[in-house]
Amino acid sequence: MKNIVITDNIKYIGVDDKDIDLFEGQYVVPNGISYNSYLILDEKVAVMDTVDMRACEEWLENLKKALNGRTPDYLIVSHLEPDHAGSVAGLISAYPNVALVGNAKTFSMLPNFFDVEQQEKLEVKEGDTLTLGRHTLQFFMAPMVHWPEVMVTYEQTEKILFAADGFGKFGALDTEEDWTCEARRYYFNIVGKYGAPVQALLKKAAGLDISMICPLHGPILKENLGFYIEKYDIWSSYKPEDSGVFIAYASIHGNTAKAAHMLKEQLLELGVEKVAITDLARDDMAEAVEDAFRYDRMVLAASSYDGGLFPPMEDFLMHLKAKTYQNRKVAIVENGSWAPSAAKKMKEYLEGMKDICILEPIVTIKSTVRKETEAELQTLAEVLQKA
Ligand code: FEO
Repeated sequence: MKNIVITDNIKYIGVDDKDIDLFEGQYVVPNGISYNSYLILDEKVAVMDTVDMRACEEWLENLKKALNGRTPDYLIVSHLEPDHAGSVAGLISAYPNVALVGNAKTFSMLPNFFDVEQQEKLEVKEGDTLTLGRHTLQFFMAPMVHWPEVMVTYEQTEKILFAADGFGKFGALDTEEDWTCEARRYYFNIVGKYGAPVQALLKKAAGLDISMICPLHGPILKENLGFYIEKYDIWSSYKPEDSGVFIAYASIHGNTAKAAHMLKEQLLELGVEKVAITDLARDDMAEAVEDAFRYDRMVLAASSYDGGLFPPMEDFLMHLKAKTYQNRKVAIVENGSWAPSAAKKMKEYLEGMKDICILEPIVTIKSTVRKETEAELQTLAEVLQKA
């Protein structure tokens, strides 16, 4: 078990998963993922969430060691998604008398996953408390952050916020890496659609005196909490985080890619502070989504295909639509050899999004990058630089 210190009577009992190929069936996690779980030892003993079924055996071992002969009284179920509630049945079979703590929504959804009809249940509502002895848990509902039954728990004595998926990141706990990058990729891909519910949760959190945040993924946050809260405020309000241009391209034969890289050089020569670029057919889609939200300007460059749009770009735009991409300035570059159709399709997607300013001119490449294309890209670069 990892020796992660929370406090004297609150133990980390989570598990790192370094073998998973795709988290939630779609996200690459080169440094794995942690399924965090905690144990509060007091007159009563509370387990704060379980872990993915993949890690159940190791987690039960961790729990047993931390219990040191005691048995859990309560299992707090903050979130039913299987990466956290996957071992509820495993816990019940090891400790049959454990009472389940959740809200009305938790208990309406729980039977979809497990047969818990016989189990004692304690249903809590907004603001309810559960005293364990010296520790008191207070529950706050966080619906749609990012499932309907999600709730967070505030431990009043040690001032710890158990934040469910909030403030989580990709990456196992034995990985030394920057929090922001993998927390941002996690946020926009998993929670990104639900900015308003996250804002509502941040308002509740603002009324609490928090000394530590214990999320269900990623490191325990003990210092400089304002930094993390500010990031969540920016992300959930759909404000750009950084000034810069993100170029996303989808190229069949390399000509659109060439134009995208040419535009990148032109932007850098004009002094644009940051230009990020991605090949939508080859690079990580989740990182492309992350970068689209990160910067204030984006360029979409894609080939026409079957009278429409080259599928890697269409896939990207469907991801952005699903995550309610908004409030950004976007430029369009299309390629088409006989009947260019990509720009029309990209525009249609963008027009269906909120507060998107489409920058002119829209550049059309006819098959290959030539002198006139270079000049049009230069004009677009100047517009982007000033936008
Ligand atoms: Fe980490 Fe929404 O589960």
